[in-house]
Amino acid sequence: MSDTPNHWSRKLNDAPPAVIALLIQLLAVAVVATALTILWRAHNVRLSLPTTLVVQAALVLALTRWCNLAWWWLLIQAVFPLAIVATLMLPIPSLAYFGIFAFLFFFYWSTFRTQVPYFPSTKKVWKTVERYLPAERSISFIDIGSGLGGLSLYLGQRRPESQFIGVEIAPLPWVLSHLRTVFTSTQVRFLRRNYHSLDFAEFDVVFAYLSPAAMPDLWEKASREMRPGSMLISYEFPIVGSEPDLIVCPDDVANHGPQLYFWYLK
Ligand SMILES: C[S@@+](CC[C@H](N)C(=O)[O-])C[C@H]1O[C@@H](n2cnc3c(N)ncnc32)[C@H](O)[C@@H]1O
Repeated sequence: MSDTPNHWSRKLNDAPPAVIALLIQLLAVAVVATALTILWRAHNVRLSLPTTLVVQAALVLALTRWCNLAWWWLLIQAVFPLAIVATLMLPIPSLAYFGIFAFLFFFYWSTFRTQVPYFPSTKKVWKTVERYLPAERSISFIDIGSGLGGLSLYLGQRRPESQFIGVEIAPLPWVLSHLRTVFTSTQVRFLRRNYHSLDFAEFDVVFAYLSPAAMPDLWEKASREMRPGSMLISYEFPIVGSEPDLIVCPDDVANHGPQLYFWYLK
């Protein structure tokens, strides 16, 4: 396949939204910088910093709309240049920038690609999941995207006869969850893996708290690999086009808020 414009527009369509957003910002910086230079050299006109930022934001917003990114990207894109200039004006030592960058880098890792950031489920969710696990036999359970490991550690303590595993792609949450197993005597294991590399056939229960973007691929993998009689659980995010067998609200006192979706594989 040659590098035709069609080829590149398809490549751009497949790119993660965060990459497209960054490319838009860079393109807008290049356009605005060129326009500023021409204005200054040819007409001796200099725009103030606030005006330049408004022009940059306007251009970025137009390009973001043109690329059809979700509405929240408009907000992020408009604030981004202002936030950079504002933080550069603060008396923050460069080492602090490096520290914050390193923390975010290792904590969120490939979120720009997976579109699944870290946010933890609550104890109410863990207790509800526990209620719906097969009770009469030992099971193998996996939390795909285990974050800081709260769910697996909780279930591991409640069901010591069963096997609980968490897989996490981001290094820092994985290290922290692994350290938690060192300080609490538990059989729970945490692996630093992309769940796509696992074979779901090895598990009786697969638990996912991911994001809408991850659900179509997850369903495709689960229905291909999971054994009949095994169970897929998703917290908060349903799967478009696949009716769950059971929907449970973890906060069963007030019947609202995110739900737990259960599929029993046939
Ligand atoms: C919403 S958090 C859920 C954390 C945890 N399961 C809980 O219930 O508290 C999703 C986690 O999945 C991780 N993740 C995203 N994509 C992944 C992948 N392909 N393989 C493994 N982990 C992934 C993210 O780094 C993040 O920590």
